[in-house]
Amino acid sequence: MPDPRPTSAFHAANTDPAVTDRLVAALDAQAANPGVRRLREWAHTRLAARPGERALDVGSGTGSETRVLAAALAPGGAAIGLEPNPGLRALAEQRAADADSPARFLDGDALALPLPDADLDVVWCERVLQHLTDPARAVAEFARVLRPGGRVALLDTDWATFILHPAAPEIRPALAAVTQATAATPDAGRRLAGWLAEAGLTVDELGSDVLLHDPHTVSWPIVRGLGTAALGRNLITEEQRDRLHTDLTAAAEQGAFHLSVTMFAVIAHRPR
Ligand SMILES: C[S@@+](CC[C@H](N)C(=O)[O-])C[C@H]1O[C@@H](n2cnc3c(N)ncnc32)[C@H](O)[C@@H]1O
Repeated sequence: MPDPRPTSAFHAANTDPAVTDRLVAALDAQAANPGVRRLREWAHTRLAARPGERALDVGSGTGSETRVLAAALAPGGAAIGLEPNPGLRALAEQRAADADSPARFLDGDALALPLPDADLDVVWCERVLQHLTDPARAVAEFARVLRPGGRVALLDTDWATFILHPAAPEIRPALAAVTQATAATPDAGRRLAGWLAEAGLTVDELGSDVLLHDPHTVSWPIVRGLGTAALGRNLITEEQRDRLHTDLTAAAEQGAFHLSVTMFAVIAHRPR
């Protein structure tokens, strides 16, 4: 059964085509971020997908990592992206065709994978578990579809590590609250290893990197939206919101702006 409580635009229930363009822009910006690129490279190297293997990219978004897996699995392998959002799935199919990639895409839900037991060599799941209210159930599904010896990479953000500077100390708890409200499970990053162990998988390695935003490329509507959301929830005053926006703009001009969040990655395998 699908997770019933939409929290963010990335929730599987949010399939409004008008929103999809925004999601794609956000995913493309993240894919270009040096921290995301480093952590992905680290995880792909550790996962070591090989020609002939079968892999699933759960919540594949634009399909960028499904295509990376497809390239590693050729010849003879199969890389499948599972994506419930029809707009993102269509875009991923188009991008795979444009890149002449054999990556394929399926509709489906991380909480009930449409695959038999022990069907896969590799599972990749990046920044999806934070959007689920029952991520442990999804990880149990990953364990079910992996063959003995099969490997999994989970990558996720931990929103409690979010830093926005400059922000007056008295409004930081409000900014933390609205940031964490954008995900169903905002502390997913720190819980990845625990969910894997609970699902009976053996944790092999942990990695991390930071998603550090450049003030020149950061989405200012999103940054300013945090102050406005805190005001909307009566957590800060209008004056505090205006002061925050003024301070952030000045800091960006002076090279003193900082916006970051830590991402974690865990590699595990199903015991033989
Ligand atoms: C933040 S995006 C990450 C996309 C991609 N993994 C990446 O890192 O670029 C979250 C993705 O999870 C998908 N998603 C949300 N709920 C899902 C669910 N229950 N099962 C599978 N995918 C889901 C969304 O549609 C979206 O593509």
